[in-house]
Amino acid sequence: MSETILVTGGAGFIGFHTSKKLLELGKNIIIIDNFNDYYNVKLKEDRIAQLPKKDLKVYNEDIADFKAISRIIKKNPITKICHLAAQAGVRYSLKNPFIYERSNVLGTLNLLEAAKQSEIKDFVLASSSSVYGNNKKIPFSEEDNVDNPISFYAATKKSAELIAHTYSHLYNINCTALRFFTVYGPWGRPDMSYYKFTQAITEGKKIPVYNYGKMKRDFTFIEDAVPAIITALERPFKYEIFNIGNSKPIELNYFIEVLENTLGKTAEKELMEDQQGDVKQTFADISKAKKMLNYKPKTSISEGLKEFVEWYKKYKVNSNKYK
Ligand SMILES: NC(=O)c1ccc[n+]([C@@H]2O[C@H](COP(=O)([O-])OP(=O)(O)OC[C@H]3O[C@@H](n4cnc5c(N)ncnc54)[C@H](O)[C@@H]3O)[C@@H](O)[C@H]2O)c1
Repeated sequence: MSETILVTGGAGFIGFHTSKKLLELGKNIIIIDNFNDYYNVKLKEDRIAQLPKKDLKVYNEDIADFKAISRIIKKNPITKICHLAAQAGVRYSLKNPFIYERSNVLGTLNLLEAAKQSEIKDFVLASSSSVYGNNKKIPFSEEDNVDNPISFYAATKKSAELIAHTYSHLYNINCTALRFFTVYGPWGRPDMSYYKFTQAITEGKKIPVYNYGKMKRDFTFIEDAVPAIITALERPFKYEIFNIGNSKPIELNYFIEVLENTLGKTAEKELMEDQQGDVKQTFADISKAKKMLNYKPKTSISEGLKEFVEWYKKYKVNSNKYK
């Protein structure tokens, strides 16, 4: 019998792509997602509708509810947990910190405790490049000090890493934390800049360009990130952290230029100061992931944006046909 993997946040952007790949690899997949309305719930439902039903069970539950998730975990023969559910987004964490504490800190603890009780030995969790805050040393390495987060979101991600470390140490649960650097692509997140900009430029609306377009982000195409998640699930480590980025930071102004070229339309820009909580740049040192996870990002920003824009246009026209 093929193995059963629990994917939390499977209706989310990264969770959907990961579940799709795992199903293609012949795994049985259990998804837990609470389909919250932080962004368009229909997009989450449409993602799930893309997945083959065979070998898939989807539970609409909150990972902050220990009883609910431990019931699911006890009922199914789960051998690995891929924990991708979280309240994401840096800016919203300044407005509503409590939901971040609930989903990202309590939610992670609940899953690890349920894993311990059900003797599940392998646990992969999503962390974030935001834990590096405004660190001056670049590129960011897993060995750098990350004691100075500048958003509450980052603080909850660092907390999740620490909780995972204690469960690995105390109960021998293999834990791998993946620090994702701005993952983007088809079926992506409408709250992220690349999605918002595409929408605004297409509709002829102004785009807010924070920090006068001077900030830099290391963009990671979803199809480059997923193989790293799969390898992390296949190759358990006692406790390891990996940067999953592209190691090619891109200035926001250049990013907008590429998007304009892809869309064939000029953006109306509103230049603004930087926002609280936003880091000035992200830049991943990916040598550890290359060596230990055989990680090989290969998609350039223009190739990745092209794929995103193609999906975006198609989804906009067809989304009323889904479900
Ligand atoms: N996309 C990125 O650029 C990026 C960067 C760094 C880290 N991450 C992390 O990667 C993971 C996946 O991110 P994503 O971009 O797919 O985000 P996403 O918001 O699309 O996916 C997260 C999913 O988790 C679900 N969820 C949230 N709180 C929940 C709860 N309490 N109980 C059950 N389900 C819950 C949401 O409904 C959503 O479907 C997250 O942990 C995120 O913090 C993402």
